[in-house]
Formats: sequence, C-alpha cells, structure tokens
Amino acid sequence: MKYLSALLIFCGVAVLGVGGFIYSGAYQIGADVPHTTPVSWVLEILRERSIERAARDIPVPELDDSQLLLAGGPDYNEMCSGCHLEPGRTESDMSVGLYPAPPDLTTHDEEEEHGETQAAARQFWIIKHGIKATGMPAWGPTHDDQRIWAMVAFLQKLPELSELQYQILTARGEDDSGHAH
Ligand code: HEC
Repeated sequence: MKYLSALLIFCGVAVLGVGGFIYSGAYQIGADVPHTTPVSWVLEILRERSIERAARDIPVPELDDSQLLLAGGPDYNEMCSGCHLEPGRTESDMSVGLYPAPPDLTTHDEEEEHGETQAAARQFWIIKHGIKATGMPAWGPTHDDQRIWAMVAFLQKLPELSELQYQILTARGEDDSGHAH
C-alpha cells in the first residue's frame, strides 16, 4: 500500500512536471533549432509505425511503364523538385530551411531500406496523404491515384538519372496541360 501511494505521487508529479513544461513555453518550436533527442525519437517512431501500418495493404500496380514515367516526370519537376531537388541541384531554400528537412530524392534509395514493393506502397501513401507537422503536403485531395502512381514510378528511376535524362523526362509536351491523366 505504501509503495502504491508513493508510485501514485511520483506519477502525479511527473504528469504535472511534463504538463508544466509544455505549458511554460520553454520548448523551442522554431524550425532552425532541432528537436531534443527524446522528442525526435518519439516523432520518428510515431511517423514510421503509422506509415508502415497504413501502407501495408496497398496493392502496387506495374510501375515499369514508360507512359507512367513520362506522366510522372513533369509533375515531379513542377510540384516536388523545389523541396526534393533534382540531378545537379544539391540544395534549395526549402531543402535548407524546412525542418524536418525534405530528403534529397535524387540520392535517396528507398528500396534499399524497405524493399521494392514496400517502398512503392510507402511512397504512394506518403504522397497521397502527406505527413503532419512537416512541409510534406497531401497531394491526394487534388490528384487522382493514377497520377500519384506515375510520380512513384518516376521516383524509382530518379536516383539513376543524369541531368540530361532528367530534363528529357520532365519536359511537358505542348498539348499536355497536366490535368488530363
Ligand atoms: C514544401 C516542401 C515539399 C514539397 C513541395 C514536397 N515535399 Fe515531399 N517531403 C517534404 C518533407 C519535409 C518530407 C519529410 C517529412 C518527414 O521527415 O517526416 C517529405 C517526405 C517525402 C517522402 C518520404 C521520403 C522518405 O523516404 O521518408 C516522399 C516519397 C515525398 N516527400 C515525395 C514528394 C513528392 C512526390 C512531392 C511532389 C508531388 C513532394 N514530396 C512535395 C517536403 C515536401
């Protein structure tokens, strides 16, 4: 009984301490100061577990398709390269200023970390839904699944592209407004 009340008092003090700290305003929320280690750790697990669970059962279509690649390239260039870069460009205002920093998708090998199918499902989910409290927007409300898969197909090839190949694959045809997919 004695231990139990000591434990309860300890928990109460801990809750008050954490609550008081949150309310005090002492935590640095500016994007130019990194999170403390425990906060980074919690956010990382929260993000990875949530994405893994949500993306688990997404069926991945055939992505090795040149039409898909040609549709995804111009979209990537216009909507994503400002944050996620392109061959020959190693930083932008967004890639430097955002916290957490947008990963450089021209060098980032998702497949190595997650395996090919899982990597594609994960990228599809992230592009469609975005990630809370980061600069990563949800593109699902304004783009259909087909267009998002096209960007996933493009992302799988992006790390292998030279600057010239990137330019060719991201050029938009004149009759292609980008909204007809
Ligand atoms: C305003 C900047 C911004 C734009 C524009 C943006 N992103 Fe992101 N994106 C981010 C940030 C920041 C993260 C990292 C979030 C995190 O660390 O949790 C991210 C994460 C990602 C990831 C996950 C990478 C990984 O392996 O964890 C993918 C895939 C991605 N974005 C694809 C895209 C695509 C495709 C587009 C264009 C349709 C796009 N992003 C546009 C900022 C952006």
